[in-house]
Amino acid sequence: MTDFSRYTVSIDYDRRLYKQDVAGSIAHAKMLAKQDIISQDDAAQITQGLKAIEKEIELSSFPWDPALEDLHMNIESRLHQIIGAAAGRLHTARSRNDQVAVDLRLYTKETIKEIAKGLRGVQQALVGLAFRYQTVVMPGYTHLQRAQPVLFPHHMLAYFEMFQRDIGRFQDCYQRTDVMPLGSGALAGVAYQTDREFLAAELGFSRISANSMDAVSDRDFVVEFLAAASVCMMHFSRMSEELILWSTGEFGFIRLSDEFTTGSSIMPQKRNPDFAELARGKTGRVYGDLLGMLTTLKGLPLTYNRDMQEDKEGFFDAADTLSTTLNVFQEMLPGLKLNEERVSSLAGESQMLATDMADYLVAKGMPFREAHGIMRELSRHCDERNISLNDLPVAEYKKLSDLFEQDVYDITAESSAAARDNPGGTAPVRVAAALEEAKRIMEAAPDGF
Ligand code: ARG
Repeated sequence: MTDFSRYTVSIDYDRRLYKQDVAGSIAHAKMLAKQDIISQDDAAQITQGLKAIEKEIELSSFPWDPALEDLHMNIESRLHQIIGAAAGRLHTARSRNDQVAVDLRLYTKETIKEIAKGLRGVQQALVGLAFRYQTVVMPGYTHLQRAQPVLFPHHMLAYFEMFQRDIGRFQDCYQRTDVMPLGSGALAGVAYQTDREFLAAELGFSRISANSMDAVSDRDFVVEFLAAASVCMMHFSRMSEELILWSTGEFGFIRLSDEFTTGSSIMPQKRNPDFAELARGKTGRVYGDLLGMLTTLKGLPLTYNRDMQEDKEGFFDAADTLSTTLNVFQEMLPGLKLNEERVSSLAGESQMLATDMADYLVAKGMPFREAHGIMRELSRHCDERNISLNDLPVAEYKKLSDLFEQDVYDITAESSAAARDNPGGTAPVRVAAALEEAKRIMEAAPDGF
């Protein structure tokens, strides 16, 4: 082959759609026979031939020929070699344009289901960690500054929520992918009395496309898949960032298992969180896949244009990147060891309890703004002298308000968390209820669908 003819070839990557292509063709042949467009005998030969081809592909004995450009031409040509003349009838009332559309939709539907399952697995792992460390209080952050104590399981459940929304996004995408385009032909429909509803039922689609021109040129479902994958990777990237920070000597919150860290070739003490770093890094390529697809589509007039062949590599890349990321996190999270002592001692530092001390004054009748001002002053005072609020004698407190009594020292990280007893808050009772709800959600749809 010349370098030029290579330019149009897609067989190196579209062969991944072989199962869907064979299934689509078998359903099509069956429909043609049912409608008396081809004979039952031809349909039977075609079906047999296609099944033989599927086997060959699985056994890696299929003679792929780049000169035939794509998957569809390779399979059709091989069908001729195997069954002879009847093969020529398969492409009646069909075009590669509706054929590739049906293949990619079938593949996307399956991929979405696998991803939803993987996301459930990650949620399971998060809930597992949440139960393991259910009572541990840790520092919660804003601006990456220690802010208020939160329960460790509350932090884990924040990610549960993100992944729950991701599952929802993939489910939405599924609805719009679940549309059967065969029967659209090249662009205008086909000049045969086909039975499109039959095809939809055979192939497991819940409805048929309404407009043949749209059906052959629509790749919105690919864009939506890539968008959902991008948001999901963004979530993994954020979690990775936390795992990386938490594994540093500076934080010292967690230890990842050896399997998911690597040593340095020069510094013997190193335990680098490479898997989390790579998840963060791979997020960039998934965004790239999304941007690539959007850009490919943006100038295309109706209907099919060859540009659209470029939909596949980015799609496969994003799907592969996301599914391996899901596998990694399902394995990596259960091996995470939390340094309970360290996180709870940091959570107990009294500067983190300043809000609670303001609330203490509010409970005794002071307006919140005034209480906030007093605590600000006390906190500054402590900062300057490098002591903590708990080190201040009660007399110092009383200088700013005589509402302060000895019981101000009873405020702890635990009492702070327990006070946040409203829906969505970090009080242990609320977190326990949220964990039950998470379990209920997972049990209702173990595979995310
Ligand atoms: N390989 C093509 C693709 O992936 C299949 C459709 C080709 N259609 C055409 N009219 N050349 O988009």
